[in-house]
Amino acid sequence: MDKVFVLDFGAQYAQLIARRVRECHVYSEIVPHDIPLKELSGQHPAGIILSGGPKSVYSPGAPSLDPGILKLGIPVLGICYGQQVMAQGLGGEVSRTGVAEFGKTDLKVNSSDSVLFSELPPEQTVWMSHNDSVTGPPEGFHVTASTPASPVAGFEDPERGFYGVQFHPEVAHTPFGLDLLKNFLYEACDLLPKWTMTSVIETAIEQIRAQVGTDRVACGLSGGVDSAVAAALVHRAVGDQLTCVFVDHGLMRAGEGEAVETTFRRHLGADLIHVKASDRFLEKLAGVTDPEEKRKTIGETFIRVFEEVARDELEDAQFLVQGTLYPDVIESGTKDAAKIKSHHNVGGLPDDMKFTLIEPLRNLFKDEVRRVGEELGLPEEIVWRQPFPGPGLAVRIIGEVTPERLDLLRAADQVVFQEIKRAGLLREIWQSFAVLPAVRSVGVMGDERTYGYPIVLRAVTSEDAMTADWARLDYDLLERISNRIVNEVPGINRVVYDITSKPPGTIEWE
Ligand code: XMP
Repeated sequence: MDKVFVLDFGAQYAQLIARRVRECHVYSEIVPHDIPLKELSGQHPAGIILSGGPKSVYSPGAPSLDPGILKLGIPVLGICYGQQVMAQGLGGEVSRTGVAEFGKTDLKVNSSDSVLFSELPPEQTVWMSHNDSVTGPPEGFHVTASTPASPVAGFEDPERGFYGVQFHPEVAHTPFGLDLLKNFLYEACDLLPKWTMTSVIETAIEQIRAQVGTDRVACGLSGGVDSAVAAALVHRAVGDQLTCVFVDHGLMRAGEGEAVETTFRRHLGADLIHVKASDRFLEKLAGVTDPEEKRKTIGETFIRVFEEVARDELEDAQFLVQGTLYPDVIESGTKDAAKIKSHHNVGGLPDDMKFTLIEPLRNLFKDEVRRVGEELGLPEEIVWRQPFPGPGLAVRIIGEVTPERLDLLRAADQVVFQEIKRAGLLREIWQSFAVLPAVRSVGVMGDERTYGYPIVLRAVTSEDAMTADWARLDYDLLERISNRIVNEVPGINRVVYDITSKPPGTIEWE
């Protein structure tokens, strides 16, 4: 398969570049900047992009570029830091000009035969973020674009297949950035836009069939997008050889357990073991009020239940499907984030379970997984489901989780869901939900004094859940949600809106 490698000089930039390349229908993978030359050339990429990075090429320990990469005869595009290491590697000049550029900048294209800027406007806005600049292009290069502070904002040597830009074509603030990337991919690398979700599905099916043969496969469903798409894909590949296991802990939102059942059993005709274990989970949760203790209880109970199913009904399954995504693959090992909440996903299984893993989504970003799900015919409510914590509504009930309190929260949460959906905001908002705190307050309904629970409404926008901002919901929408909850859910007499960003708050309340 044709592919383009993004050499990672600073993770956040590399991911975005890889995503944009894929938007141009060319498969792209992120590799470390110090990948051994043999390994890189052995995989025959059709093009290489050197990403931006947070360092100066002059700072001690700055990531360097193996000069051998520039001798492989593969077209190379350097972006920002990538342009600078490329210039340095080829004998050009990179300087600390003392003039930094950050943000939107006016760019002039000053070459009529540039490959990268071909058919793009001669004057355009680009996004800059740099201190150092290329001040002298290497021999053989011509300057293609400049800005007031960057005389060499673009350069190229098409004969040798070298291209560089100081600005960031991958960000949305560079309006013609995607067109520039297309010029690199389609013109400089001579690639065709062939990588589509249909081709992804076909390739995955072939690979799964080859890996599995005639063996049996198990897949745990959580109700979330990733496991659902992974299961649907494996089902398309091996049909009846797949058994799906849905451990229903009874902590899902209204209607979600049924949606899993309907989709997999009725629509896809998949073999599904639906373990209705709500009583068992609630029994274990009785009296538990500490947030971490709740997570631990749910995680452990989940494992016990799954082990029993595996022992009794899956003993001849050799393979286990997991919905690992590309960001998990890139980030595992590189990130050592402080533990704020233990996010042991419900679905994490003990290591001694002897399954070989099948991870059909491990090369895909979340939005790509959604598109695969749509192509496989999964319903909208599963494909576009907002992220949902493994321990479910238990972390949205402060204090003890009881059947009564679960019912209260579920009813209020359903109103939130319906109104956010009706306002057309379900996809735009990262997560929107209700939280049930453990305090009560006085209110008045009709002529009667009430003493009930409030509902906290939480709605946030986010890119990746690492940071988040509270959503600026319309006042009329807030009013509708508040009125409906107080009128329709007995026991709730007040609705408050959480206007805390993350940090300092977290998205969930526990
Ligand atoms: P916080 O609350 O830490 O959440 O801002 C960040 C994201 O993670 C989800 N979340 C969890 N997911 N198990 C999960 O699988 C958990 O225990 C858990 N706690 C929080 C949360 O919904 C948000 O998307």
